[in-house]
Amino acid sequence: MKHFTKFESLELSQTLIESALAYKGSPFVDQQKGRNKRIGCIFLNPSLRTRASTQIAALNLGMEPIVMNMDKEGWALEMREGAVMNKGTVEHIKDAAAVLGSYFDILAVRAFPSLTNKNEDIEDFVFNQFIKYSGKPVISLESAIRHPLQSLADMVTIQELWKENRKPKVVLTWAPHIKAIPHAVANSFAEWAIGNEYDVTIANPIGYDLDPAFTKGAHITHNQEEALVDADFVYVKNWSAFNDYGKIHSTDSAWMLTENHFAAAPTAKVMHCLPVRRNLELSDEILDGNRSLVQLQATNRIYAAQAVISHLLG
Ligand code: CP
Repeated sequence: MKHFTKFESLELSQTLIESALAYKGSPFVDQQKGRNKRIGCIFLNPSLRTRASTQIAALNLGMEPIVMNMDKEGWALEMREGAVMNKGTVEHIKDAAAVLGSYFDILAVRAFPSLTNKNEDIEDFVFNQFIKYSGKPVISLESAIRHPLQSLADMVTIQELWKENRKPKVVLTWAPHIKAIPHAVANSFAEWAIGNEYDVTIANPIGYDLDPAFTKGAHITHNQEEALVDADFVYVKNWSAFNDYGKIHSTDSAWMLTENHFAAAPTAKVMHCLPVRRNLELSDEILDGNRSLVQLQATNRIYAAQAVISHLLG
């Protein structure tokens, strides 16, 4: 693995999951591994969990993290080759990324989509500029189309809890939201859950089907009630339309999960990456009840990041 941007193989996924669970038991066992090394965490967008957990993961490995909130504190970056920079941008990505590559052993980058330029978002254009020009291993802290550290933490969470001798039934269900939300978490969760050979169902209203590049191998339905039957893990997430790119077609509150939705899945656990809009995406009774895994997922973000950084350190 040269960069950490997506699900690559079942073998690598299992290696990282097992490494994360081992680090959870002994976080400081590899304190020498990152000694005299630095990770640069570049945020072009806001974060709570990713920012904190990646820094803690690096520190657990004896590595120094330096966070740059480029959206607020950095120069406005120009991304386009050959641009005449006579407007708002101050520094070209090819200059900035090369400098960052010379300062750090590993870069980690968050770059959300525009949700207006579908082709550019699908190509993960902004994130890939950092790979192209930094010359260093790059970890995705959430790109336009994927959030692999979140998904690895989600797989760690499922594997930590699942003790049955069968594949769990995992349901990814759309939830209402008032804003146009990226597809990255949903895409990535589907990619990793399918890649880990879980029994995956995706439920969303008509008009909200995800990019098929991420959902091959999943059962896709527009009927949430049918999807939830016998579910073991239910992952809740909003996303905007993919075909009618970045648009909101529905805010149907019937899709927000409450206890009433679990009659046919009495033992199902509920997952969400956070931040969550309470009583819009998910009800208080679910988030504050015994089904909720959201805090465990957030805790596991540390050990997922630690496993990835450790793997890249070699
Ligand atoms: N789940 C997640 O990535 O949270 P943040 O956006 O707060 O980092």
